[in-house]
Amino acid sequence: MSQFDALISAARAAREWAHAPFSNFKVGAALRTPSGKIFGGCNVENATYGLTVCAERVAIFKAISEGERQFDAIAVVTDTNTLTPPCGACRQLIWEFCGDVPVVMSNLQGKVEELRMSQLFPKPFDSSNL
Ligand code: THU
Repeated sequence: MSQFDALISAARAAREWAHAPFSNFKVGAALRTPSGKIFGGCNVENATYGLTVCAERVAIFKAISEGERQFDAIAVVTDTNTLTPPCGACRQLIWEFCGDVPVVMSNLQGKVEELRMSQLFPKPFDSSNL
């Protein structure tokens, strides 16, 4: 048992809803608030490719649009041996909305790796630069 088990399960469940007919690369993410509420998200692709939204950003937008403003961890689940870290665009938004949270990466075999955002995104641009 780890403090991230429920978060990983939520990301794995969200992954089932991935709409990835172009890449066939299904991703699930889940975001946790300090009170323990969890918001899941999956990647949503479309025929332009470029308008695709990653699972992490779907989870963030769901949570923000329901009034949440504080987060203490995010999980990302894929079906890969090498675990999947958030893309650059998602790192920017995770940093701005969640700060230096643990990013818990996992796969369907139960492999788990944890990195903090400050490791994944060491010199961010954010509102402190404006
Ligand atoms: N993708 C995510 O949803 N999250 C990531 O962390 C990496 C990439 C999606 C975008 C696209 O639908 C597919 O994975 C292939 O890039």
